[in-house]
Amino acid sequence: MKTKKIAPSLLSADFAHLERDIRMLEQAGADILHFDVMDGQFVPNISIGIPVLKAVRRVTSLPIDVHLMIETPGLMVDAFVDAGADNVTIHFEAERHLHKVVHQIKAKGAQVGVAINPHTPVSVLEDILPDLDLVLVMSVNPGFGGQSFIPNTLDKLSRLRKIRDERDLSHIDIEVDGGVKIDNIKAIADAGADILVSGSGIFRAKNPAQMIHEMKALINS
Ligand code: DX5
Ligand code: ZN
Repeated sequence: MKTKKIAPSLLSADFAHLERDIRMLEQAGADILHFDVMDGQFVPNISIGIPVLKAVRRVTSLPIDVHLMIETPGLMVDAFVDAGADNVTIHFEAERHLHKVVHQIKAKGAQVGVAINPHTPVSVLEDILPDLDLVLVMSVNPGFGGQSFIPNTLDKLSRLRKIRDERDLSHIDIEVDGGVKIDNIKAIADAGADILVSGSGIFRAKNPAQMIHEMKALINS
């Protein structure tokens, strides 16, 4: 079985003290940094983009997992890889030429993920699945941190894991994003997630570093 990983979402970090927060995450054993990009079109919010990604890249060697919540991401993926993304995840709902953009990201040398919103069935990924490194299952409607986990996601994760097993696609990581907290993380990991994104669940904890330790222990227990 894969070792399950924690990916803290920088969206909940203190942007005035980003380097300090990244050091804390590194020391606490975070596996991946999750970097949320929002364009005010695909989602009703605007967050951070290329200049901030370049700055984060300068101060850490942790893998950076870029989650593009933007329309027509194909226009921007090269720039995100150039800015330092190790993984670029685009939304199924936001890209008409998904196959083309998936291969564009690969050709640039980054890992590629496709995200699906809560209403999007796993089945739409049937044909593209072998080409992917990662599937991101959204467990909230994207746009904001601090929302509640949508319970039906557990079933979606199990179905996706089953498909991955049946089709022998063990190279694909299953990632989950939204409302992941200490009280539900074990069930979410057991349902099939390999990479667990958590923003407010970590940064709003009294002791975020301790929270990462506890989460890591739970998901691999
Ligand atoms: C939501 C973002 C998430 C967000 C998760 O649109 O994609 O990555 O930061 O935040 P929490 O863990 O607070 O739900
Ligand atoms: Zn995200």
